[in-house]
Amino acid sequence: METSEKFDTDIRFVCRGTFVHSTAEEALQILEDALLGVDSEGKIAFIGEGKDLQKLSENFGFSPSAVTQLQQHEFFMPGMIDTHIHASQYSYAGTALDMPLLQWLNTYTFPVESRFQDVEFAKKVYTQVVKRTLRNGTTTACYFATIHTDASLLLGQIANDFGQRALVGKVCMDRNDAVKCYRETSEESQEETYRFIKELLNKKYPLVKPVVTPRFAPSCTEALLAKLGEIAKNNKLHIQSHISENLEEVKLVKELFPNSESYTDIYHKCNLLTDKTIMAHGCHLSDEELVLFRKTGAALAHCPNSNISLCSGVLNVRNVLNHKVKLGLGTDMAGGYSPSILDAVRRSLDSSKVLTIQDPEHKTLSFEEVFRLATLGGSQALSLDERTGNFKVGKDFDALRVNVAAPGGPIDLIQNEKPQILLEKFLNLGDDRNIVQVFVAGKKVVPFSEP
Ligand code: GUN
Ligand code: FE
Repeated sequence: METSEKFDTDIRFVCRGTFVHSTAEEALQILEDALLGVDSEGKIAFIGEGKDLQKLSENFGFSPSAVTQLQQHEFFMPGMIDTHIHASQYSYAGTALDMPLLQWLNTYTFPVESRFQDVEFAKKVYTQVVKRTLRNGTTTACYFATIHTDASLLLGQIANDFGQRALVGKVCMDRNDAVKCYRETSEESQEETYRFIKELLNKKYPLVKPVVTPRFAPSCTEALLAKLGEIAKNNKLHIQSHISENLEEVKLVKELFPNSESYTDIYHKCNLLTDKTIMAHGCHLSDEELVLFRKTGAALAHCPNSNISLCSGVLNVRNVLNHKVKLGLGTDMAGGYSPSILDAVRRSLDSSKVLTIQDPEHKTLSFEEVFRLATLGGSQALSLDERTGNFKVGKDFDALRVNVAAPGGPIDLIQNEKPQILLEKFLNLGDDRNIVQVFVAGKKVVPFSEP
């Protein structure tokens, strides 16, 4: 039995049934007939065994009859973590996948993002993206917004209102020759970043924080990158950007930053690689660059749908993990067409299998390992693992109640299955119809409460 020290905690609710999650030692740990109590602050107060119900109810002062009992084909798993998603790109998700990265940005992305000057448009898109991702089990999202401060603040407000845990980034870019209406001066970018951080922090949202967001090296001058590194350092903030996604981009970066040893070196020199940094993609990083990630504690967001959809490359996740670099999963919507981390799980497995087809020596990722990346791995990549990522006493209760046999859902269960099989079926075949409840910090956020 695992319990918090305080035995006088107020218990908000207690659930009994199967819990599946990951730990550092075990990619998949299954707790059958477990009892988990959530306190009034939304934190896990205890995790025990069903047989100890009487003792736990006395110790923690709850009524055994108030315990929520899961059914045979149900389980709780930790909420999923999207370590890289462009909230503003939701409006064209599922389209525009016919070009490589740099042309795709100029043709589709920048013109769409420039529309977020209009806060009414932003409100519509951001409300939909927060609802859609929550419904699909994303309890934590690390968002790119656009260059517009007011719309980015609105995204923070909407995530807070719906109860999603989020890092929100106002995008910075002082270099964009292709779409001139969508860039800032260096001064604007710095000043608006200050304003964004100050105003978002002033709201004191418990689960929503700002993240310093240089778009990527090609759209920023070195002076701006350095300034953003300084801002992040002085305010101990998270940092997010893109790195080494596509070969044409890597070549462009070499031309734009001729004095840097590598793409990674540019960010490193500007103090942008820290243990609160998450860089998307990294498909074409060298082993030396991965060593620098490891040394600085910076993490990677693996976005396999995007990497395939934009023909960017295939990240060798096994090699990243062997280098002990932190890694989580990202949808990278709309470069990736799906807003669901379940899709990222499937594309991660597919991509790993493609690498095995190319090289039979490659050790394919298991579904258990990818499950860990979608949950605990994501929380570690975002340096939020003290608060979320798995079921540990003292962490916030961020969880999905999954019903594998949900009526009208996509899965037919022919017989009773063991929890490991139920999880595998859900990861490969399930969708939001199977996610019957979503909790963030102990609060039920799906189904949505009536306004
Ligand atoms: N690199 C710079 N900006 C972007 C973006 O919006 N999406 C993707 N996939 N890569 C980028
Ligand atoms: Fe991206």
